[in-house]
Amino acid sequence: MTLPNSARAFAHSNIALAKYWGKADVLRNLPAVPSLSMTLSDLYTETVVTFDATLQHDILALDGRAATQKESARVSRALDLVRHEARLATFARVQSRNNFPTASGLASSASGFAALILAARAAAGLPDDRTITSAMARQCSASAARSVYGGFVALPLGEESARRVPVPPHFDVELLVAVTAEGAKSIGSTEGMTHTRDTSPYYATWVEHAPELYTRLTTAICAADFEALGPLVEHSALLMHASMVGANPAIIYWTDTTLRVMHRVRQLRADGVSGFFTMDAGPHVKVLVRSPQAATLAAELAAVDGVKRVLRCGVGPDATLELGVDQLAGRAP
Ligand code: PMV
Repeated sequence: MTLPNSARAFAHSNIALAKYWGKADVLRNLPAVPSLSMTLSDLYTETVVTFDATLQHDILALDGRAATQKESARVSRALDLVRHEARLATFARVQSRNNFPTASGLASSASGFAALILAARAAAGLPDDRTITSAMARQCSASAARSVYGGFVALPLGEESARRVPVPPHFDVELLVAVTAEGAKSIGSTEGMTHTRDTSPYYATWVEHAPELYTRLTTAICAADFEALGPLVEHSALLMHASMVGANPAIIYWTDTTLRVMHRVRQLRADGVSGFFTMDAGPHVKVLVRSPQAATLAAELAAVDGVKRVLRCGVGPDATLELGVDQLAGRAP
């Protein structure tokens, strides 16, 4: 087998400002709507992949424990894509660690699959091509396509790979994550999307409106126009969640704490502290805020009844790669 057979990658999580919910092509995992996200500085996955000719099957350790069968099967499917591209039949040892709770609605699959594909392709001796890495990560989890890049990232409709969105450097924002519960989410995103498509009369409306919202949101972010961007961010999240609430039975990721945080954000805005919320397939609330107001808003959100903690995240970097490394580093470079 050719060297290097080991590589380590770091990929940062991302939160969509223009949401993705629904698949145009389930087999190829192509989204039904375009999306745009912010990569987060403080939440990341670190993954080491080692192809080892002595292994009889892939071995996955996640956050220091042996992975479940379901987790291992998903990782093996991702490795199969890399093995196919590299014409390789060797199994791999995978060690992966999140610096935040896995499967909690904090987008661990985004950073997880971006780091996995980036490390696995390099360990398999393939060239470091981020367009291919993004397309392959997308096949595992569409939001993972966006975690290959830092800054603000778009996954346009019908495209295989994500791409950077050129945002002026003076666009100085943070994303606050109000953690409202511990533990894994109740229903996974793929299952949730299928169920929404199959049972919600609002799904078609969401898919119809999302592209225009994405275009307006892209224009606002490229112009660094925070006050134009904010309402579009909230509208995208609320339209997406409305499509889920219209499913039968309804998918409701929100808890009473989620709602309290949303109301508090709106109230603070009326009082001059300008933040805009978004939510994903989990109960946490993420709030986009201008950096100078981040400390004030974070303190206000931490005081909301039921909020466990508030994470402050700046705009995160590109995913990084080191060849020939077979150990986790324990922290981002
Ligand atoms: O890529 P997935 O399957 O983890 O789905 C992500 C879906 C949302 O987080 C709700 C929205 C998004 O665009 O990230």
